[in-house]
Amino acid sequence: MNRIYHALLLAGAFLRPASAECRILKRGLSRDILLIGGTLLTPDGVVQRDSALFIQAGKIAYVGDTCGFGTGRGGDDASVVHCAGSVVSPGFINTHEHIDFSTVGPFPDLGERVGHRHDWRLGTRNFTMREVAVNGSEVDAVAWGELRHVFSGTTSIIGGEMVPGLARNLDFPEGLEDGLDARLVIYDTFPLKDRLGILRNGDCDYGADAIDSATATQYHRYIGHVGEGVDVEAANEFICLSNGSFDTTPAVDGGGLSTDIIAPNVVLVHALGLSRGDFDVVAARGAKVVWSPRSNMYLYGTTLDVTYLLDAGITVALGTDWLPSGSATIGREAACAVSATRELYHASLAPEVLWEMATVNAARVAGYEDELGSLEVGKVADIVVFGGGEGDGDGDPYEQAIFAPQEKIELVLRGGKVLVARSEMRDLAAGSCEQVSFGHVDKIVCVKDELGSSFRELEASLRGVYPAVLPGIPPYEPSCEPGMKL
Ligand SMILES: *[C@@H]1O[C@H](CO)[C@@H](O)[C@H](O)[C@H]1NC(C)=O
Ligand SMILES: *[C@@H]1O[C@H](CO)[C@@H](O)[C@H](O)[C@H]1NC(C)=O
Ligand SMILES: *[C@@H]1O[C@H](CO)[C@@H](O)[C@H](O)[C@H]1NC(C)=O
Ligand SMILES: [Zn+2]
Repeated sequence: MNRIYHALLLAGAFLRPASAECRILKRGLSRDILLIGGTLLTPDGVVQRDSALFIQAGKIAYVGDTCGFGTGRGGDDASVVHCAGSVVSPGFINTHEHIDFSTVGPFPDLGERVGHRHDWRLGTRNFTMREVAVNGSEVDAVAWGELRHVFSGTTSIIGGEMVPGLARNLDFPEGLEDGLDARLVIYDTFPLKDRLGILRNGDCDYGADAIDSATATQYHRYIGHVGEGVDVEAANEFICLSNGSFDTTPAVDGGGLSTDIIAPNVVLVHALGLSRGDFDVVAARGAKVVWSPRSNMYLYGTTLDVTYLLDAGITVALGTDWLPSGSATIGREAACAVSATRELYHASLAPEVLWEMATVNAARVAGYEDELGSLEVGKVADIVVFGGGEGDGDGDPYEQAIFAPQEKIELVLRGGKVLVARSEMRDLAAGSCEQVSFGHVDKIVCVKDELGSSFRELEASLRGVYPAVLPGIPPYEPSCEPGMKL
């Protein structure tokens, strides 16, 4: 390592975290970046003092304290950024979205909390059917949703649809970006082929071609909605997918058999209808759960007692579900997770636990834990820097990360590429960037080459849809309060 680096590292170590904002100490010729002085959230814990994270060729090349960042690491052409008071985290992985609904704003609150998803989807059992007409083109809606999540510190999404660039789409081989290894990650909204509103209790006479264990085992991850509801019909869905001897009588039109798919490669989305005994089965089999508390609270008035799942050893990850009933950002999902757990179960969830649900656990749910989800040498450099509050550095760094509103985000890198940065760091970015205001904070957004238009052009063409720039608390946010009894 050359002397200039050494001097900068030393200087970085002595700079006071007065502003809790990043600044560029040296502009390099390559896209490599050396971040120093931030609080690093690593698998070995928090590295708070004299820290350094080195990104080379889109991957994490060093993470630790500056003393260990020795000679011979190369990267003399890297930019050096000092971020004292800020928190450096892996980018969030949002494990559940219906990203194509990103131009449909939150449902108005009718005060109705239903028993099963078909009640609001289709108006079964005299509930109100909810309109979810997508405004404009689906491609635009998907891009708009990915932008909103990228602006919120999310670098990967499992969203059912995709556009190239922007967030990684872990459920699409062509949406992975940066040459990530493609795996068979299957996202299924209707594992039981019950799209038309089939509700069963006591048998498994759902649609033909429902998922079965022979099919599910072929996938690296099979991620399906199971038990989205609070009634016996929701509970029945898990029985039909976990007990092969529950229903052995075929239905007339085909299908109609129970199966047992519960295994480590299977991820249950929502799982709201499951009992504690059911979760004991999930835990014993190593299956995983995606938790979307806000959408659960808004539609059904309740959500999982997640501490039971965590104590049982289940890997739980956060997912925002979708804009009409869920959170606009992972940070707001985490906020709802805390308040719902407190209100319903009188338990507290530590910020670190929520942060794990959005990073390392989420990578395991997606089946990409060897490449994503933690600050470790060799992993892909999906990095988010969260700016500080008052800059005293005494707060909980996990809290600073997981609850950060958009305007507190200093930097979003996907594979080492700058997607968003505070305007003061404009010189870090290569490619075409534009200035965008997040409340009182000006940032640069560098998505034009991936989006095919500027952010402003897309925004203008979608005029009037729910915003992607959402500083503070998003407007019309669906309620996370416990609902009325059915
Ligand atoms: C679609 O756009 C129109 C006009 O901007 C707006 O009035 C309507 O509420 C939007 N619909 C949805 C579902 O967002
Ligand atoms: C729905 O409403 C109708 C008319 O009020 C009533 O006859 C029927 O029993 C209701 N169905 C259910 C499932 O509650
Ligand atoms: C599976 O279903 C059968 C038939 O209903 C029942 O006898 C058995 O107890 C169930 N197994 C489990 C583990 O619940
Ligand atoms: Zn969903």
